[in-house]
Amino acid sequence: MQLLDGKKVSDDIKNEITAEVQKMKEKGEKVPHLAAVIVGNDGASLTYVGSKVKACERVGFESTLVKMPSTTSETELLKKIQQLNEDDTIDGFIVQLPLPDQIDTQKVLMAIDPRKDVDGFHPENFGKMALDMSTFIPATPFGILELLERYGVETKGKHTVVIGRSHIVGRPMSILMGRKGFPGNSTVTLTHSYTKNIAQITTQADIIITALGVPNYLKAEMVKDDAVVIDVGITRVNDDSEKGYRITGDVDFEFVSKKASFITPVPGGVGPMTIAMLLKNTLLAREQKLLKN
Ligand code: GUN
Repeated sequence: MQLLDGKKVSDDIKNEITAEVQKMKEKGEKVPHLAAVIVGNDGASLTYVGSKVKACERVGFESTLVKMPSTTSETELLKKIQQLNEDDTIDGFIVQLPLPDQIDTQKVLMAIDPRKDVDGFHPENFGKMALDMSTFIPATPFGILELLERYGVETKGKHTVVIGRSHIVGRPMSILMGRKGFPGNSTVTLTHSYTKNIAQITTQADIIITALGVPNYLKAEMVKDDAVVIDVGITRVNDDSEKGYRITGDVDFEFVSKKASFITPVPGGVGPMTIAMLLKNTLLAREQKLLKN
């Protein structure tokens, strides 16, 4: 079994981005600037957004964190998005999900200027992705592709089973793994809450990508020998540590890792890759803007 070390690969990518930023500075160009909007006080979301902002500092980007109260109305959030769309100093921004119930998420995502949509969630960008056009690829699926590529994991002709059909991970992942190219050229099965006999499907999989948010869901008996296992789950499970919780993946790592050929750990697998690829998309947004000016 080989670990797909997202911590290490994401550090490599951040170092590559830092070098690019250095070159921009030497040429007297403005460095990339990412803004992140968070609505409400959800502890996990605040932690993720905090990590994104910290990562910007590490690579030399500028960053702006916009914190809005949980009572924010849809109109107020749309107004903030309009400001960010019009602010020339900002190259890309994200609105951290999930949003409070009073706000229509799809309406918000559609209000983001597609050229600044570094999450790749706007329908225009999602459509381009599905049509193999150059665009922002959502950071978590992009991070998984990058891990597979950098470890040289063969995907061509393999059966990839994706568990979970979220707009952020499962759905785009299923599209990307079936695309022409590498990584891609897989035969993809997208499973979800209505899928029957899921173990019968997962035991046929060469590559399993779980994005479910159910701790230790994928057991060893659901996985065939030498499968590649990618765990996107990051659920906080209460324990008696100082923090009061630990991060747990969807995969029963202790036993599944004994059968897998490649496997991502949690933490230190897909999580850090998501942040690195968000930085990469922000760099891309900056470069595209420079090309147009
Ligand atoms: N919530 C969980 N993952 C993500 C992500 O990649 N982007 C945003 N904006 N919100 C998220």
